[in-house]
Amino acid sequence: MLSKADDTLLTRTGPGTAMGDLLRRYWIPVLQSGELAPGGRVKRVQLLGERLIAYRTPGGTPGVIGEFCPHRGASFYWGRVEEAGVRCAYHGWKFGLDGQCVDMPSEPRESSFAAKVCHTAYPCVERGGVMWTYMGPPGPPPLPDLEWTLLPVAHVFTSKRVQDCNWFQALEGASIPATSRSCTPPSTTRTRRSPATWTARASGWGRRSRRATGPRASTWWTPTTGC
Ligand code: FES
Repeated sequence: MLSKADDTLLTRTGPGTAMGDLLRRYWIPVLQSGELAPGGRVKRVQLLGERLIAYRTPGGTPGVIGEFCPHRGASFYWGRVEEAGVRCAYHGWKFGLDGQCVDMPSEPRESSFAAKVCHTAYPCVERGGVMWTYMGPPGPPPLPDLEWTLLPVAHVFTSKRVQDCNWFQALEGASIPATSRSCTPPSTTRTRRSPATWTARASGWGRRSRRATGPRASTWWTPTTGC
Protein backbone atom coordinates (compact mmCIF):
# COMPACT_ATOMS: atom_id res chain seq x y z
CA MET A 1 0.00 0.00 0.00
CA LEU A 2 1.44 3.33 -0.99
CA SER A 3 1.58 6.23 1.40
CA LYS A 4 -0.49 9.27 0.46
CA ALA A 5 2.71 11.13 -0.34
CA ASP A 6 3.95 8.39 -2.70
CA ASP A 7 0.55 8.15 -4.31
CA THR A 8 0.56 11.87 -4.98
CA LEU A 9 4.10 11.66 -6.32
CA LEU A 10 3.13 9.00 -8.85
CA THR A 11 -0.22 10.25 -9.99
CA ARG A 12 0.24 14.01 -10.38
CA THR A 13 1.56 14.97 -13.79
CA GLY A 14 0.92 18.70 -14.07
CA PRO A 15 3.70 21.20 -14.80
CA GLY A 16 6.33 21.27 -12.08
CA THR A 17 5.49 17.85 -10.61
CA ALA A 18 8.05 15.05 -10.49
CA MET A 19 6.11 12.66 -12.72
CA GLY A 20 5.05 15.52 -14.94
CA ASP A 21 8.70 16.42 -15.52
CA LEU A 22 9.53 12.79 -16.28
CA LEU A 23 6.67 12.18 -18.69
CA ARG A 24 7.39 15.42 -20.49
CA ARG A 25 10.69 13.91 -21.63
CA TYR A 26 8.78 11.67 -24.04
CA TRP A 27 6.78 12.21 -27.20
CA ILE A 28 3.11 11.93 -26.31
CA PRO A 29 0.27 10.82 -28.59
CA VAL A 30 -2.34 13.54 -29.07
CA LEU A 31 -4.87 12.39 -31.64
CA GLN A 32 -5.23 10.09 -34.56
CA SER A 33 -4.18 12.01 -37.64
CA GLY A 34 -7.57 11.59 -39.29
CA GLU A 35 -9.29 13.48 -36.47
CA LEU A 36 -8.05 16.85 -37.73
CA ALA A 37 -8.94 18.08 -41.18
CA PRO A 38 -6.70 20.73 -42.81
CA GLY A 39 -8.07 24.12 -41.81
CA GLY A 40 -11.00 22.38 -40.07
CA ARG A 41 -12.40 22.46 -36.57
CA VAL A 42 -9.97 22.24 -33.70
CA LYS A 43 -10.06 19.57 -30.97
CA ARG A 44 -9.83 20.03 -27.22
CA VAL A 45 -7.28 17.73 -25.62
CA GLN A 46 -5.90 17.42 -22.11
CA LEU A 47 -2.36 16.15 -21.73
CA LEU A 48 -0.50 15.83 -18.45
CA GLY A 49 -3.03 18.07 -16.75
CA GLU A 50 -2.76 20.83 -19.38
CA ARG A 51 -5.80 21.94 -21.33
CA LEU A 52 -4.75 22.32 -24.95
CA ILE A 53 -6.18 22.85 -28.41
CA ALA A 54 -5.03 20.72 -31.34
CA TYR A 55 -5.47 22.00 -34.88
CA ARG A 56 -4.27 21.52 -38.42
CA THR A 57 -3.43 24.42 -40.68
CA PRO A 58 -4.94 24.59 -44.17
CA GLY A 59 -1.53 23.46 -45.43
CA GLY A 60 -1.76 20.31 -43.30
CA THR A 61 0.70 21.12 -40.49
CA PRO A 62 -0.50 19.98 -37.04
CA GLY A 63 -0.21 22.26 -34.02
CA VAL A 64 -0.95 22.25 -30.29
CA ILE A 65 -1.52 25.43 -28.30
CA GLY A 66 -2.66 26.22 -24.75
CA GLU A 67 -6.44 26.43 -24.70
CA PHE A 68 -6.77 29.87 -23.16
CA CYS A 69 -5.57 33.02 -24.87
CA PRO A 70 -2.94 34.92 -22.86
CA HIS A 71 -4.76 38.20 -23.54
CA ARG A 72 -8.16 37.83 -21.85
CA GLY A 73 -8.44 34.09 -21.50
CA ALA A 74 -10.81 33.32 -24.38
CA SER A 75 -10.73 29.71 -25.47
CA PHE A 76 -9.00 28.81 -28.70
CA TYR A 77 -11.73 26.21 -29.10
CA TRP A 78 -13.55 29.07 -30.81
CA GLY A 79 -10.42 30.23 -32.60
CA ARG A 80 -9.95 30.48 -36.35
CA VAL A 81 -7.38 28.21 -37.90
CA GLU A 82 -5.25 30.05 -40.43
CA GLU A 83 -2.10 29.36 -42.37
CA ALA A 84 0.78 28.75 -39.92
CA GLY A 85 -1.26 29.42 -36.80
CA VAL A 86 -4.54 30.07 -35.07
CA ARG A 87 -6.34 33.35 -34.36
CA CYS A 88 -8.25 34.11 -31.17
CA ALA A 89 -11.93 34.78 -31.78
CA TYR A 90 -12.15 37.56 -29.17
CA HIS A 91 -9.68 40.34 -30.11
CA GLY A 92 -8.03 38.63 -33.05
CA TRP A 93 -4.52 37.99 -31.79
CA LYS A 94 -2.86 35.38 -33.98
CA PHE A 95 -0.33 32.86 -32.71
CA GLY A 96 2.04 30.82 -34.83
CA LEU A 97 2.76 27.13 -34.52
CA ASP A 98 5.58 27.94 -32.09
CA GLY A 99 3.29 30.02 -29.86
CA GLN A 100 4.70 33.37 -30.91
CA CYS A 101 2.13 36.11 -31.37
CA VAL A 102 2.40 37.28 -34.97
CA ASP A 103 -0.53 39.62 -35.37
CA MET A 104 -2.51 42.05 -33.21
CA PRO A 105 -5.16 43.75 -35.33
CA SER A 106 -5.83 46.47 -32.74
CA GLU A 107 -2.19 47.58 -32.53
CA PRO A 108 -0.83 50.31 -34.82
CA ARG A 109 1.22 49.07 -37.75
CA GLU A 110 4.50 50.28 -36.26
CA SER A 111 3.88 48.56 -32.90
CA SER A 112 6.23 45.75 -31.90
CA PHE A 113 4.11 44.60 -28.98
CA ALA A 114 3.20 41.30 -30.67
CA ALA A 115 6.84 40.25 -30.59
CA LYS A 116 6.75 40.38 -26.78
CA VAL A 117 3.83 37.99 -26.43
CA CYS A 118 4.29 34.26 -26.55
CA HIS A 119 1.85 31.52 -25.64
CA THR A 120 2.21 27.86 -24.69
CA ALA A 121 2.64 25.74 -27.81
CA TYR A 122 4.30 22.39 -28.38
CA PRO A 123 6.05 20.91 -31.41
CA CYS A 124 4.11 18.23 -33.24
CA VAL A 125 5.00 15.48 -35.67
CA GLU A 126 2.95 12.80 -37.35
CA ARG A 127 3.99 9.26 -37.77
CA GLY A 128 2.11 6.00 -38.14
CA GLY A 129 -1.17 7.87 -38.54
CA VAL A 130 -0.81 9.43 -35.08
CA MET A 131 -0.10 13.02 -34.11
CA TRP A 132 2.59 13.31 -31.40
CA THR A 133 3.71 16.23 -29.32
CA TYR A 134 6.67 16.98 -27.08
CA MET A 135 5.95 19.03 -23.94
CA GLY A 136 9.35 18.94 -22.28
CA PRO A 137 12.35 21.27 -22.14
CA PRO A 138 14.13 22.31 -25.36
CA GLY A 139 15.87 19.57 -27.31
CA PRO A 140 13.27 16.83 -27.80
CA PRO A 141 14.58 13.30 -28.18
CA PRO A 142 14.09 11.53 -31.50
CA LEU A 143 10.68 9.97 -31.92
CA PRO A 144 11.18 6.29 -31.09
CA ASP A 145 11.35 3.97 -34.08
CA LEU A 146 8.45 1.76 -33.06
CA GLU A 147 7.83 -0.80 -35.74
CA TRP A 148 4.30 0.34 -36.48
CA THR A 149 5.34 3.95 -36.83
CA LEU A 150 7.74 3.00 -39.61
CA LEU A 151 5.17 1.26 -41.78
CA PRO A 152 3.02 2.89 -44.44
CA VAL A 153 -0.26 4.07 -42.92
CA ALA A 154 -2.13 1.66 -45.20
CA HIS A 155 -0.45 -1.24 -43.39
CA VAL A 156 -1.53 -0.35 -39.87
CA PHE A 157 -4.77 -0.16 -37.90
CA THR A 158 -5.39 2.26 -35.07
CA SER A 159 -8.07 2.38 -32.43
CA LYS A 160 -8.69 4.76 -29.57
CA ARG A 161 -10.66 4.61 -26.36
CA VAL A 162 -10.95 7.32 -23.75
CA GLN A 163 -10.36 6.03 -20.23
CA ASP A 164 -11.61 8.33 -17.52
CA CYS A 165 -8.95 7.53 -14.95
CA ASN A 166 -5.50 8.52 -13.78
CA TRP A 167 -2.67 7.59 -16.14
CA PHE A 168 -1.16 5.25 -13.55
CA GLN A 169 -4.35 3.21 -13.23
CA ALA A 170 -4.33 2.65 -16.98
CA LEU A 171 -0.67 1.69 -16.98
CA GLU A 172 -1.01 -0.60 -14.00
CA GLY A 173 -4.08 -2.35 -15.37
CA ALA A 174 -2.56 -2.87 -18.78
CA SER A 175 0.88 -4.01 -17.73
CA ILE A 176 0.24 -6.68 -15.11
CA PRO A 177 0.04 -10.08 -16.83
CA ALA A 178 -1.94 -11.65 -13.96
CA THR A 179 -4.60 -8.97 -14.27
CA SER A 180 -4.88 -9.44 -18.01
CA ARG A 181 -5.31 -13.19 -17.67
CA SER A 182 -7.82 -13.28 -14.85
CA CYS A 183 -9.85 -10.16 -15.52
CA THR A 184 -9.88 -9.81 -19.27
CA PRO A 185 -13.08 -11.08 -20.89
CA PRO A 186 -12.67 -13.83 -23.46
CA SER A 187 -13.44 -11.42 -26.29
CA THR A 188 -10.27 -9.47 -25.52
CA THR A 189 -8.03 -12.52 -25.36
CA ARG A 190 -5.61 -12.85 -28.18
CA THR A 191 -6.22 -15.94 -30.22
CA ARG A 192 -5.00 -17.16 -33.52
CA ARG A 193 -8.50 -16.85 -34.86
CA SER A 194 -9.26 -13.31 -33.79
CA PRO A 195 -6.18 -11.10 -33.69
CA ALA A 196 -8.23 -8.15 -34.90
CA THR A 197 -10.68 -8.48 -31.99
CA TRP A 198 -7.84 -8.51 -29.52
CA THR A 199 -6.22 -5.44 -30.91
CA ALA A 200 -9.40 -3.45 -31.26
CA ARG A 201 -10.74 -4.03 -27.77
CA ALA A 202 -7.90 -4.60 -25.41
CA SER A 203 -6.56 -1.07 -25.18
CA GLY A 204 -7.61 2.49 -25.53
CA TRP A 205 -4.89 3.40 -27.93
CA GLY A 206 -3.61 0.51 -29.88
CA ARG A 207 -1.89 -0.29 -33.01
CA ARG A 208 -1.39 -3.52 -34.78
CA SER A 209 1.33 -3.39 -37.29
CA ARG A 210 1.54 -5.81 -40.10
CA ARG A 211 4.59 -6.29 -42.20
CA ALA A 212 4.13 -5.90 -45.92
CA THR A 213 5.92 -9.22 -46.28
CA GLY A 214 7.19 -11.83 -43.87
CA PRO A 215 5.85 -12.76 -40.43
CA ARG A 216 3.11 -10.77 -38.79
CA ALA A 217 3.99 -8.64 -35.81
CA SER A 218 1.84 -7.02 -33.17
CA THR A 219 2.84 -4.01 -31.19
CA TRP A 220 0.95 -2.32 -28.40
CA TRP A 221 1.16 1.21 -27.34
CA THR A 222 -0.17 2.36 -23.98
CA PRO A 223 -0.81 6.09 -23.60
CA THR A 224 1.17 8.18 -21.17
CA THR A 225 -1.44 10.86 -21.00
CA GLY A 226 -3.54 11.63 -18.00
CA CYS A 227 -4.70 14.24 -15.62
S1 FES B 1 -8.72 37.22 -25.55
FE1 FES B 1 -7.64 36.49 -27.23
S2 FES B 1 -7.10 38.24 -28.34
FE2 FES B 1 -8.11 38.99 -26.59
